[in-house]
Amino acid sequence: MVKFTTLLWITLLLGGCSANTEPKLDKPTDDAKQALPALHIQPEVYALGDIQEGEAAIVVFLIRNNGAQAVELVDIQVSCGCTAATPDSYIIPAGGFTQLKVSVDTTAKQEGIKKSVFVTDSLGHQASAILTFNVVENPHPKQGDIQGIFDGLCASCHFEPLVDIAEPAKLYAVGCAMCHGDAGQGAYAPQLLGFSSQEALVTLIGEGVGKPQMPGFAQSQGGPLSDKQIESLAHWIMTLPKISK
Ligand code: HEC
Ligand code: HEC
Repeated sequence: MVKFTTLLWITLLLGGCSANTEPKLDKPTDDAKQALPALHIQPEVYALGDIQEGEAAIVVFLIRNNGAQAVELVDIQVSCGCTAATPDSYIIPAGGFTQLKVSVDTTAKQEGIKKSVFVTDSLGHQASAILTFNVVENPHPKQGDIQGIFDGLCASCHFEPLVDIAEPAKLYAVGCAMCHGDAGQGAYAPQLLGFSSQEALVTLIGEGVGKPQMPGFAQSQGGPLSDKQIESLAHWIMTLPKISK
């Protein structure tokens, strides 16, 4: 039995990577008279949208057993590799379902991706579904791989947008909030509340703290900000209310 289904799968899988959208369903069986196929997967097409490169695309399908007796899943295949598919349970009671978690590693993948999922039960029923998603460029490096935030591609978000902003609140929102929190309360980076000296703040912002995540923002240090921008930003940060914990 297992040999037989394996052989069948090889035939199906050969078509699986190409653009065939028609799910290949059961050969006619006793269940054929029912409205829904004995075994089917919901949804038939799962469109996941944009996924950043390097992140896992994870979806949960439902495999339904519409037949009159319990079945066991004997084969689960996903087209083209780099994908894991794990059911909650291999046994599906009559009229019941199980969840199938499918996860695709998107590392080094590009743009439109289409994966097919195929399952076979112990009665020889088959069902399939399709998972589509679009891999978009990930602007952030993996952990432990931090570059300077003014370098290369990073500058398009962490440097260039700051250059012409005069208004300090806006400057903060565009250039600092992403790391220090919307109201200076700290997030990825420490809080900026409670500084007693504006002078110290000016120095820290202008010269940085010697880390690639917090380089000197002053133009003299290769950063985007004029002395005037830094002065007004420091002054504005000093006015932020302290947040009591
Ligand atoms: C497309 C715009 C964009 C680009 C390009 C970009 N960043 Fe960011 N960065 C952000 C935003 C927005 C945040 C706020 C957190 C978030 O939304 O991920 C952020 C947050 C960060 C953080 C704080 C940690 C975190 O993940 O929240 C670090 C560190 C960082 N970026 C470094 C970099 C480096 C280094 C590069 C270049 C390799 C870079 N960024 C490229 C927009 C960008
Ligand atoms: C990509 C993330 C990131 C961005 C953007 C960023 N910082 Fe920082 N900043 C840090 C990190 C991380 C530290 C702490 C580094 C350390 O000491 O470990 C830091 C430290 C500081 C410090 C010193 C804090 C202290 O307690 O000594 C100040 C002041 C500061 N940042 C102000 C700013 C201002 C103002 C901006 C916007 C112009 C800004 N930072 C933008 C990540 C960032």
